[in-house]
Amino acid sequence: MTPDTPLRDAAASAPMAPGAEIGAGTLPVPAPRPDANQSAELQLVDVNKIYQARTGPVEALKNINLTIGRGEFVSLVGRSGCGKTTLLRILSGLLPPTSGSVTANGESIWRGTRRDDQALKQFGFVFQEANLFPWFTIAENIALPLKLRGVAKKQRLARAEELCAQVGLTGFEGSYPRELSGGMRQRAAIARALSYNPSILLMDEPFGALDALTRDRMNLELQSIHAAAGATVVFVTHSIPEAVFLADRVVLLSPRPGRIRSVTSVPLARPRSLETESTPQFQDIVRELRRQLDEED
Ligand SMILES: Nc1ncnc2c1ncn2[C@@H]1O[C@H](COP(=O)(O)OP(=O)(O)O)[C@@H](O)[C@H]1O
Ligand SMILES: [Mg+2]
Repeated sequence: MTPDTPLRDAAASAPMAPGAEIGAGTLPVPAPRPDANQSAELQLVDVNKIYQARTGPVEALKNINLTIGRGEFVSLVGRSGCGKTTLLRILSGLLPPTSGSVTANGESIWRGTRRDDQALKQFGFVFQEANLFPWFTIAENIALPLKLRGVAKKQRLARAEELCAQVGLTGFEGSYPRELSGGMRQRAAIARALSYNPSILLMDEPFGALDALTRDRMNLELQSIHAAAGATVVFVTHSIPEAVFLADRVVLLSPRPGRIRSVTSVPLARPRSLETESTPQFQDIVRELRRQLDEED
């Protein structure tokens, strides 16, 4: 587990307030749950993934059924090796499932064994490392996907400027990645992913390498970005408080083979602030998810 902030640890271990109710709607079964007022944007049906490793087959994911609504924020949590990255890569079409179907907006992202590149254009990715090119400025890095898509230079740079404002990097357009802090580089990576207006943002432990205070700030910013961009977000993290803070629903995975252990709704009002984390409702959800995770030991 990555270290959480003292605030978060204190919150998670605080005794339950008298009369506080368990706010989380934790489902014991991994039922696909299309929301009545949201159309399904991403859907995994009976997805299995077996890697053929040198030492033999590795069952990374088993019977995954998950429906994610348009504009929804879903966090995936679970211990290292439980299949989070595998699930994200399958969702994005970077990795084919061994069996099962993956659809985006009702269309399969696979045409037989070939990926549908049209479907793939809807996705933006952010990984743990910002992966910026050191010889490009921040604006050039952010605008790179647009360059690859043939957008003219003037428009690219105008868009980069707009995105810098959105992620709080105004004034750093001409800086080089080495001149920025880790948190700022990660913001640039988010801006780059947003450059072509993806409808789906897939994030794999994007703040895992940041210090706790920067991470708190990035969580607040990501919340605003999600609200402004209206994108569907699938966010992988080790941190249960981070998962709960950001998500509409938290999907907890169990390892060997990776299965959906539970799906928990987070009915906390938005926008959320760091004070949200000291509410009994937040703490109850975190405590329940920690309990489920501990059961696996
Ligand atoms: N390319 C691969 N070849 C063989 N096994 C893999 C490969 N990628 C991941 N695995 C295995 O699949 C399981 C899930 O891995 P991963 O999706 O990376 O988990 P997480 O992101 O939750 O840490 C692990 O047991 C891992 O060792
Ligand atoms: Mg991973």
